[in-house]
This record gives sequence, structure tokens and C-alpha cells, in this order.
Amino acid sequence: ARTPLTDRFGRTVNYVRLSVTDRCDFRCVYCMSEDMTFVPREQVLTLEELAKVARTFVDLGTQKIRLTGGEPLVRRDILELVREIGTFGLRDFAMTTNGSQLPTMAESLREAGLKRLNISLDSLDADKFHRITRTGKLSQVLDGIDAAREAGFEGIKLNTVVLKGRNHEEIPDLVDFARQKNIDITFIEEMPLGEISEHDRGLTLCTSDEVRDIIRERHELIPTAEDSGGPARYYRMPDSNTKVGFISPHSHNFCSTCNRVRVTVEGRLLLCLGNEHSMDLRRVLRSHPDSDDKLRQTIIEAMDLKPERHHFASNGDVQILRFMNMTGG
Ligand code: GTP
Ligand code: 5AD
Ligand code: SF4
Repeated sequence: ARTPLTDRFGRTVNYVRLSVTDRCDFRCVYCMSEDMTFVPREQVLTLEELAKVARTFVDLGTQKIRLTGGEPLVRRDILELVREIGTFGLRDFAMTTNGSQLPTMAESLREAGLKRLNISLDSLDADKFHRITRTGKLSQVLDGIDAAREAGFEGIKLNTVVLKGRNHEEIPDLVDFARQKNIDITFIEEMPLGEISEHDRGLTLCTSDEVRDIIRERHELIPTAEDSGGPARYYRMPDSNTKVGFISPHSHNFCSTCNRVRVTVEGRLLLCLGNEHSMDLRRVLRSHPDSDDKLRQTIIEAMDLKPERHHFASNGDVQILRFMNMTGG
């Protein structure tokens, strides 16, 4: 039988975000500094270790797994992992990607059992896109979005981190693009993870209320009752299937319904994105390679470390030194 994981605040954890690599072919300004050093390979969980962690969480009641990065599709054996997790019979199995590899990989991912994709898209203007991602090519991502649509995923969502002065004037165009493609879009408030010297977060934060007001000049936004079980609040429009979501860690705290934990690329079980409370699963995996029970017990015990909420500062001050690419958000 599957025993649910619960924490000290009565929250059930049934959703795991697994970061499979910290590497990425992009260098988004809000995520990475220009001169990133990556985790040495021997410190990254192997395919077998990742599969074992996933399996153990599923035995403990996990119903949803999301693979993240870095960019999950730059990991060489990613399709094998997707295929393996695809056999677990999960209610939901998703990936968050920058989209650059989707032109060649979308179809294989779908065939391997992945159900949903979140694709980051911060601009529809090739120059602006390049300025935000520093190494990304817009046309590749647009092709990737089309490839994903053709592959028949159960859901595709765009993610836009809104930055004042960089892409906030594109919000209406991005909404129209999502409507045209018949997919959902979520606007995200930037979170202060990792000290990025070239980028002053205090200057670029754009709140979800501001974004919503901009969209409302063009479209009626009707709140949905839908509880995604996650941080996003969704709105629909009268004349489209596209839903618009808002993730507002600064202006609308959603921690009281948090259902998730993360596993970093080094196998650290992180109980909250905005805190350092963690448990070293890699050490358990490597010191007890033949035991499933030790890993199970460690995960159960870790639930007591889950903090009540995050405390991000909206002036951009960084309290968490870990970069976003370690956790995949
Ligand atoms: P679902 O899995 O459907 O809930 O999608 P999602 O939107 O949470 O996932 P995605 O990987 O697309 O992340 C979008 C943004 O949400 C990223 O910026 C994440 O950092 C942020 N996010 C996801 N979960 C949490 C959370 O628990 N706390 C905070 N503060 N941000 C989160
Ligand atoms: N704040 C908010 N969102 C971020 N992402 C990456 N870094 C940050 C940050 N500092 C987003 C990416 C992607 C998702 C995984 O997290 O754009 O959509
Ligand atoms: Fe790569 Fe995503 Fe970070 Fe951009 S936000 S650098 S695409 S991991």
C-alpha cells in the first residue's frame, strides 16, 4: 500500500520535482551568472539513482513527478529515465524545458510516456530573447513549441518570467501567441535565487497585479476555481481555451497549500525552494546501495524538516545562494 507523506503542518507531499542536470545551453539573466561552474559529474545522481529515488517516492504516495534542470534535455540519458518513470503509472508526469531541443526530441518524449510540458518563453522578439537568455535562439524554441504541439502532449504551458524594462511590454503579444497556439501561459514573478552580479533584481521585479492589469486592457480575465495544487492562479478568457496563470511568490504567498519537494541535481532533498532545509539522499543511496528501506526512511524523516513558508525579499536581496539551475525552480 502507498503511505502518504505528510509534514508538521498537515500538508501532504505528493509531488516531486527532480532536477536531472544543472547544465543548460542557455544563460538566462535571472537564473545563471555568466561564468557558471557546474557540478562535477561524479556528484550528479546517476540514471539508476534517479530512477530509484523516483520509484521510492512513488511507493510513498507520489502522484506527480516533474523533471527539471538546468535544461533536462541536455542530459544524454534523459529518454531512458523518462521511459522508466513512464512505467510507474503516475497521475501526472511532466517536464520543464527551455524548448531548444524539442524540435528533435518532442516526439520521442511523448512516446516515452511524458504527459505534459512547460516551455519557457520570455520574448517573441529575437533580439530581446537573445538578451534575456544570452545564448538562446528564438527560432529554435518556436520550432520546439510547434513540435510539442504536433506530438500530442496532454498539456503544454508557456512560462514567462516578467522583467521590467526587458520584456514586460511584450505581455499582450505573449498572451496572443498562446491564444493562437491554443496553449496556456503563466507569468512568473522573479525569485531571488543565487547572487547574479550583472543583474539587479530589485529594479526588474514586475508584480502579477501589474501584469494582470496590462492583460485586462485587452482581454477579460475570469478567475477559475481550479486549484492546480500548485502556486499558479489561473484565469480564463471568454473567447479562447487559453488559460493565463500567475505565479506570485512575492505578492501572493501560496505556501500553506504546498504539496511538493525537490531533489537537486546532487541528490539533496530540498523541502522548500526558499529555504536551505535539506536531506542528503545521495549519501544514503551510495552508502546503502542494496537497501530500499534506508532511502524510504530517510525521505519519511525529512518531512519533519519542511518549513512553513519561504521568506523571499521583494527588493531582490538574495538569501538563498543556490542558483535556480540546481533545483529547476
Ligand atoms: P506545476 O507542476 O503544474 O505546478 O507547474 P509549475 O508552474 O509549478 O512548474 P514550472 O516548473 O513550470 O515552474 C514555473 C515557476 O514556478 C518557476 O519559476 C518555479 O520556480 C515556480 N515554482 C514552482 N513551484 C514553486 C514553489 O513551491 N515555490 C515557489 N516559490 N515557486 C515555485
Ligand atoms: N525566478 C523565477 N523564475 C525563474 N526561473 C528560472 N529562474 C527564475 C527566477 N529567479 C524559471 C524559468 C523556468 C522555470 C523552471 O523557472 O524561466 O520557466
Ligand atoms: Fe537554462 Fe532555464 Fe536557467 Fe534559462 S532559466 S538558464 S533555460 S535553466
